[in-house]
Amino acid sequence: MTPELCVVVPTFNERENVPLLIRELSASLEGWNWEVVFVDDDSVDGTADVVSAHAKTNPRVRLIHRIGRRGLSSACMEGMLSSQAPLLAVMDADLQHDSSILPRMVQCLQQGSHDVVVGTRNSDGGSMGEFCKTRILLSRAGQRLSQTICRCKLSDPMSGFFLIRRNFLMEVVRDVRGEGFKILVDMLSSARRPVSLTEVGYTFRARTHGESKLDAAVAIEYLFLVLNKMLGDVIPVHLTLFMLVGCIGLILHLLTLLYLVDARHVHFLTAQIIATFLAMSENFLLNNRITFRDRRLKGKHLLPGIMRFAVTCSFGAWANFIFTRALWQSGVEWLVAGFAGIMIASVWNLSVSSFVTWPV
Ligand code: GDD
Ligand code: MN
Repeated sequence: MTPELCVVVPTFNERENVPLLIRELSASLEGWNWEVVFVDDDSVDGTADVVSAHAKTNPRVRLIHRIGRRGLSSACMEGMLSSQAPLLAVMDADLQHDSSILPRMVQCLQQGSHDVVVGTRNSDGGSMGEFCKTRILLSRAGQRLSQTICRCKLSDPMSGFFLIRRNFLMEVVRDVRGEGFKILVDMLSSARRPVSLTEVGYTFRARTHGESKLDAAVAIEYLFLVLNKMLGDVIPVHLTLFMLVGCIGLILHLLTLLYLVDARHVHFLTAQIIATFLAMSENFLLNNRITFRDRRLKGKHLLPGIMRFAVTCSFGAWANFIFTRALWQSGVEWLVAGFAGIMIASVWNLSVSSFVTWPV
């Protein structure tokens, strides 16, 4: 029988939290027809094995074990899409979200015929709990930004704890970007009509096991999500990040030349080789860390990766040269020709790198 409610839980290295969460959910949802789907991105701590062991004896527990992919938002999307339940909840595995408010969330959704109910830390008696000041400030800044793109008012758009109707998911699913951490903002800003939403308060608890996966790259990804939604999906995020990294590489290249030629009197061509090597390594490492962080190469894959990247980019440089020269010879202003060449090379480098250096 199809469950009434499906709770989707993305996991990445949450081995110790899984049994505790299952126990908590079983108590909170006693008497309900529910299931829980853990979407694990092949955690190294063996989270998938722990879930799998529970799934063997507990029919309410399911596992989606993803290999070679990373990402909180996409994990949530996959979990939600895997269920036929008419009500879909999403919450973290680390017990920071309080599952005891789930029944109230369901009641609120049904009584008010809302599309979405959000677990909030900022109103209705909710609280941030004991949280560090910087994190609270960052969270507030993120909230402000999200208000410019969401099609509804809410006090805690950064929340990763919410309940939606499956119908609402199907309405927005094709416009959701599914990258980064903020799946709720992603969905709310993808709706093509005002969304009916209400909030239920809870106290954000401290994490006791494992560590948070939120880092600077997650914040950058969020900024791009907001930009992308504001400009109606016209900015390709990967290309923008790739070009930003490229700009840093360019600056590094010029500074290296300046230092070697000017201060150390190294021969220009030798300096050029060193600068190219440095800039390319920096481009590779930053792209590996930011642009393609979900497919990041590590350990023994790093060296072959950097070599593939070098070959790809030298074709890009060659295309840049040929194209710029053709434009320039046909009378186009040098600055315009140079810029067009850079764009062509960037698009080439990104497209080829994304399946040669960082294949899915
Ligand atoms: N499958 C999968 N893949 N799960 C992931 C990934 C990933 O790449 N990254 C994180 N998770 C899981 C974690 O295992 C955890 O269950 C949940 O997503 C949240 O990750 P945390 O690392 O605990 O995030 P947080 O506590 O910093 O952030 C939380 O608070 C934010 C509000 O400030 C999350 O609830 C966010 O969703 C929320 O917006
Ligand atoms: Mn957490």
